[in-house]
Amino acid sequence: LWTMGSFLERAVAEVKRRVGDKKVLCGLSGGVDSSVAAVLVQRAVGDQLTCVFVNQGLLRKGEAEQVQKTFREKFKINLVYVDARERFLSKLAGVTDPERKRKIIGEEFIRVFEDEAARLGDIDFLVQGTLYPDVVESGTATAAVIKSHHNVGCLPEDMKFELVEPLRWLFKDEVRALGEEMDLPEEVVWRQPFPGPGMAVRVLGEVTAEKVAVVQEADAIVEEEIRKAGLYRRIWQSFAILPDMKSVGVMGDERTYSYTVAIRAVMSNDAMTADWVRLPYEVLEAISSRIVSEIKEVNRVVYDITSKPPATIEWE
Ligand code: XMP
Repeated sequence: LWTMGSFLERAVAEVKRRVGDKKVLCGLSGGVDSSVAAVLVQRAVGDQLTCVFVNQGLLRKGEAEQVQKTFREKFKINLVYVDARERFLSKLAGVTDPERKRKIIGEEFIRVFEDEAARLGDIDFLVQGTLYPDVVESGTATAAVIKSHHNVGCLPEDMKFELVEPLRWLFKDEVRALGEEMDLPEEVVWRQPFPGPGMAVRVLGEVTAEKVAVVQEADAIVEEEIRKAGLYRRIWQSFAILPDMKSVGVMGDERTYSYTVAIRAVMSNDAMTADWVRLPYEVLEAISSRIVSEIKEVNRVVYDITSKPPATIEWE
């Protein structure tokens, strides 16, 4: 009989056998795949595992703290936290093209990761949270690149590590079940997908610390209200975008000229196609009134009512 418990036992034994007494590195993104992979490998080889978590300043609000708390305090994992916020922001200064932003972030990420690997020394294995659909996809000709995807853990081939991929036989829902089996917190196991370049593709145009802070606040409000309405797990992704525009508003008897925030919520099975969510008006109303009252830089909220195709899920 195939159960998650028996899969876990076999996967742990297999990692133990392969790694032996060598050292293992894992790039942790805070997402479900790398988190589940890290906890599984730690079960197998304990302190031989070191995780690296890079804060590029483009995460969701509170995410850096949450990842550190979960992995350091709950799982007692060796976690190297790299505060690379300045480094990424300065590379992104003045850049407006979406693909260039992705490229810069991907390359900078690899550089930070290489620095850490070199600092730690004699690492033989690298953990990757590759899932079965990724394995299948990379074996066939994939569709033209619409947006270049830089995932955490997508490292250059000249890095001489052997890969440990304990999730390569699993689908996403099985990874979630495995996460629950290993007692990972609900916020990690049921996290909605988040793009590798993070808020950089949700702040349209030039990325600045100020704009990232605005979109993080708006995003946190969206998440809270969607959760409060009991919709978080049923929706594929729900989030805020900061278009590169300001519009006129009024506050008391003052004219304002401030940012517009866009809200996006989609249903999807695989992100290849997506349908915009008919959110209840009360939920939209709560999100809108909270954003304009709690974020002083914003005076207007709009809702994206396009599906994919022709729109994509992210705005960049
Ligand atoms: P689009 O916007 O192309 O997104 O409809 C499809 C899915 O992919 C995510 N996404 C990314 N993920 N790096 C990632 O790791 C990226 O550069 C990237 N761009 C989009 C997006 O959030 C959605 O789930």
